[in-house]
Order: sequence, then C-alpha cells, then structure tokens
Amino acid sequence: MRTPLAQAFDTWIRDDFRDMNTRLEELYFSGEHPERVTGVGDDIKQQLVDEGREYIVQLLQEGNTDEGFDHGFDLLGNVGFYMAACRRHGITDPAVEHRSPLTEASALAMQLGASLGAIPRFASAHLETHNRAINGVYKSFTSLPDERIFLDYNTRGVFAYIRAAEALLHILPLGISHPVSLDLLRVAKVALEDVFDSNRELFQALDTERFFYCIRPYYKPHRVGLHEYRGANAGDFAGINVIDLLLGLCRADDPYYSQLLVDKFLFMRPEDQLVLRDCMRRKSLLASFLEELQPHGQTPWFRRNVAAFLEVCEMHGQVAQQHHQQLVEKFIVAPARDAGLENQQDLSASGPPLPVLLKGLRTLCDLRSAADRTDIPSRFPDIQRLRNMLENGT
Ligand code: HEM
Repeated sequence: MRTPLAQAFDTWIRDDFRDMNTRLEELYFSGEHPERVTGVGDDIKQQLVDEGREYIVQLLQEGNTDEGFDHGFDLLGNVGFYMAACRRHGITDPAVEHRSPLTEASALAMQLGASLGAIPRFASAHLETHNRAINGVYKSFTSLPDERIFLDYNTRGVFAYIRAAEALLHILPLGISHPVSLDLLRVAKVALEDVFDSNRELFQALDTERFFYCIRPYYKPHRVGLHEYRGANAGDFAGINVIDLLLGLCRADDPYYSQLLVDKFLFMRPEDQLVLRDCMRRKSLLASFLEELQPHGQTPWFRRNVAAFLEVCEMHGQVAQQHHQQLVEKFIVAPARDAGLENQQDLSASGPPLPVLLKGLRTLCDLRSAADRTDIPSRFPDIQRLRNMLENGT
C-alpha cells in the first residue's frame, strides 16, 4: 500500500503540478521567443517549487516506509517529474551549479534510486511502460495534446520493440534450425513493422514547434545531489538492445556499443537490467547462421530460416533509419536549425551539441542497418555472405 502522503503527492503531480506546467508552457509559447523562460511566469514557478517541496519534506520525514518496489519506483518517478520540471523552467541549471539546489528532492531521489537499483531521477518507464492511467488519464508533465501524442506513440513503439525482443529470445533454447524458430522470426518482423507504422503515425501527428519548445525541454539533463544525469529517452528499455545483440548487428565487445550499454543500465528497471545482462552473454543468431553456412547452407531449413532472419535484420535497419532521418530530423534538427540553436548544449536528453549527438546516433543507425562502412564494426560483410548463399547458393 502506498502511504497517504505518497498518494497525496501523486495526486498533486497528476493535477496541480500538471496544470502549472501547462500554464507556464502557454506563457512561453505565446511569447516572441518561445525558448526563453527567464522572467516569465515567476509566480507560477515559485508556487510549483514551494508546493512540491512541502510534500517532499514531509515524505523525507516519513522515512522509508518499505512500501515495496513498485510504489518506491513510482514515488521516485514523481520526485523525478518535479526535479525535471524545475530544470525545464530554469529554476535549476547544471551549467552554473555544483550541486542541485533542490536539496530535499535530491535526498529523497537518491535514497529511492540507490535502494531500488535505478538512476535517481525519472526514467522513461515512469512515463511509458509503467505509467498507470486513472480514469483513462496517465501522468504527464502538461495537459498539452502533443505531449499525449508523443507519449502514446513512444509507449506503442516501446511495446512493439519488446514484442520483437521476446520473440527472438524464445529462439535461443530452440536453435536456429527449429521449424518453430521460423514462426518466431516472422513474429519479430511483424512487431518491427508495428514500430515502423507507429513511428510513421507519430511523424504525421506531432506538431514540431510544440514538441521542440514545450515537451522536449522536460528531458534535459539535470543534477541530483552533486552529479548531473542525462534525461530519459524512448530507448531506455532492454528490448531494443536485446534485438541488436541477438540479431548480432551490434556486439557487446564493441567498445562503442558496450559503453552505451554501461551508461544505460541504471536508466532501466532492475528486471529489465537482468534481461539485458543475460543477453550480453548469448551467441547471436547471426553467429549461429554463419556457423551453419558451410555444413548446412544448402538445406531447406537453412534457406527458409535465414531468409526470415535477413528480413528481420532489414526491418530493424529500416526502423533505425526512420528514427534518424525522420523523427530526429523533423522534430529536433530542423527546428534547432531554424531557431539558430544548433550549438546549444542541452537540446537532447544526453546533452551534447547537436553535431556530436547526431554522429553517435548515425553510428548506431548504421550498425543496425549493417551499412557498408569499414570505420565501424558493421556486419555488412557477414550479412552479404548469408545473402549470397540465399541468392546464388555460394
Ligand atoms: C534516442 C529523438 C521517438 C527510440 C533518441 C535520441 C534522440 C531521439 C535525440 C538521443 C537521445 C540522447 O542521447 O540525447 C526522438 C524524437 C522522437 C523519438 C525527436 C519523436 C518525436 C522515438 C520512438 C522510439 C524511439 C517513438 C521507439 C520506441 C529511441 C531509441 C533511442 C532513442 C531506441 C536510444 C538510442 C538508440 O538505441 O537508438 N531519440 N525519438 N524514439 N530513441 Fe528516439
């Protein structure tokens, strides 16, 4: 059971906090320079800081009530929403602080994060996969329709990726030659097509300016205690990496990719961390198909299953390209360019200037697409070997 105090804080986050953020967004957005927040709506900001702090001070006094993991994680999300909103409204700024001025919120977030085995700030699970709706409405920073659109489609995309990952995981005990592995590869492909379709709908439905000016800023990095933590992104769940690793398109021994995994672990729920850890030890499907190429490349099972495997890889690459060339381009790169903000530090969740962020995302996208690049450990030559066997029998 959640304590009455934690319940009251949750209600505040769902109602008054969301209304104050929405009012502030409307004020910023109606200004001549919608990126400017300083000096706008100061009375609302102060009310938001004070009311949130009051709940948090009482929650700290209440101490560890051992409410169980789910309630602890939910409370961490609520403190995290408060801290992220303070960052968004310019109440805190990691560039000019050595520690977060939100002392009590930091203390509660660190106590919860450390005891749960998660990052001491809100993670994407709080907004997506573990965001309970009450009477049809789940938690969000604002009540702007575009935030709903963004979160609805992020959640759909994440669950579709998870469906693909689960299908691939089921292949491990069966092996690549099992007839039912073919069914599972087909399930994985359909799930990735679902991500593609959902992303296409998001691309059309979301308003660029509203996203860029009123939603994205809640995902900026900020300090908790002494340290600065990057913001959450839709990729903070194990499934996407399970797909990368099991297909074999990305490898856990590639320092670029493993760095990404190391940095990401605590942004996931502990049960998700376990799935990913386990996956890092497994042999990929690509490696298994390559091993079978010589002895069994001509057999009907190999040809059938490798064809389905290559289709899954193809689809995974297409979704990665779509994310990079459509979503990132339309909703971040283009508006940043139009407003002359390309070199601003905190346009994205992780914070580096746009060119640096884009280079990293491009690498990831090219690994997932098995692109013909020799400067990264792309699996292009291995995928070609499988294709040749299928097309030419060699
Ligand atoms: C990461 C943009 C929607 C999946 C990122 C990053 C950006 C971005 C800029 C890098 C974050 C950082 O390091 O700072 C966007 C935009 C979206 C969007 C503008 C829509 C408006 C989605 C959706 C999915 C998704 C719907 C599907 C579930 C991912 C993944 C990552 C990521 C998996 C982690 C990096 C990776 O493994 O590729 N996104 N994203 N994104 N996003 Fe999105």
